Amino acid sequence: QSNKHYKIAVLAGDGIGPEVMTEAEKVLQVVADKFQFGLTLTPALVGGAAIDATGEPLPAATLELCKQSDAILFGSVGGPKWTGLAPDKQPERGSLLPLRKTFDLFCNLRPGQIYPAFADLSPLHPRVSSLGMDVLCVRELTGGIYFGEKGRSDTDAFDTQRYSVREIERIAKVAFEAAQKRSNKVTSIDKANVLQTSILWRETVERVAKHYPGVTLEHMYIDNAAMQLIRSPQQFDVLLCDNLFGDILSDEIAAIAGSLGLLPSASLNGKGFGLYEPAGGSAPDIAGKGIANPIAQILSAALMLRYSFGEEDAARAIEQAVQHCLAQHIVTRDINPKSTYGTAAVGAAIVATLRQEQ
Ligand code: NAI
Ligand code: MG
Repeated sequence: QSNKHYKIAVLAGDGIGPEVMTEAEKVLQVVADKFQFGLTLTPALVGGAAIDATGEPLPAATLELCKQSDAILFGSVGGPKWTGLAPDKQPERGSLLPLRKTFDLFCNLRPGQIYPAFADLSPLHPRVSSLGMDVLCVRELTGGIYFGEKGRSDTDAFDTQRYSVREIERIAKVAFEAAQKRSNKVTSIDKANVLQTSILWRETVERVAKHYPGVTLEHMYIDNAAMQLIRSPQQFDVLLCDNLFGDILSDEIAAIAGSLGLLPSASLNGKGFGLYEPAGGSAPDIAGKGIANPIAQILSAALMLRYSFGEEDAARAIEQAVQHCLAQHIVTRDINPKSTYGTAAVGAAIVATLRQEQ
């Protein structure tokens, strides 16, 4: 037994959050045994559940637990019960934005894949989905137009986009390092034919690229990238985007992949700390029925092992067990409406696969 030990703040949240989190926790315990590291999983209140219990979407005790932890495993927050509250008190804004700010989570990673066994899930089936897709969208998360100076009067309004070299450099490094572990290609997205920030973006990315001679860099305008993704998604490996372009392309990638229930995400700072959550929300329409797909939450846990703890083998083992279950058609109803497998059955199948492959 090694002396590696990881402390994880488990913020399951609302709706399907607690249901899928239970399965992710089981998977984490199995890989901890198998790959010989210790885990402490500590639950805390967040979102609507926290509002009901304390009046706050991110109680001080929860924030404190996160500060004492090595990573945050997040479920999802929100639901119809809390939509009437003021914006800063809403479950989503009131918890995720302060967490991003507090921990300087400037980097959002969203992998998107078309699994060969489920190429028909893609709305681009069959012509495009048969080409396959395996991309990683690297999105700058704390700068750009969403955080620039803004204002409005009765007759006009403005938003500003500002990026510093430092902000561009740090996100570019993440993209190149990720590409080195994948297929060694970065496509940097910009609008350098019109935007000053894009010209700086392009120059800075070029400079960072010199430190990664094994990685091919190409630049693509955002409008062309949006088109290329639906024409031939197999050409991309890592997509490097600013906050606005990444917001749009990551949702396009999710749509091409097919089901929200399969897609994980990671939000990282430069020190290995991260918040890991499914790309989807709290799915109030299916909450409490035991039919939510736990895979996005389980793959989020795998991303945590990879990016916060460097446990690449454990992360891969989880990803392979998920692929194995997909190939066996052990899936929830969002993937196959005729399936009789629920959340717990899919989680159990992934756990059993991990146990078998000793
Ligand atoms: P949603 O992602 O919760 O649901 C969209 C559709 O996808 C629904 O039909 C849902 O059943 C399905 N879906 C999502 N995840 C699934 C899973 N794991 N398995 C099976 N089906 C799944 O998005 P929606 O409906 O726009 O938002 C619902 C609530 O979630 C809102 O309160 C919203 O604010 C919140 N939300 C929270 C997020 C977060 O916690 N980061 C992100 C997005 C939405
Ligand atoms: Mg979005």
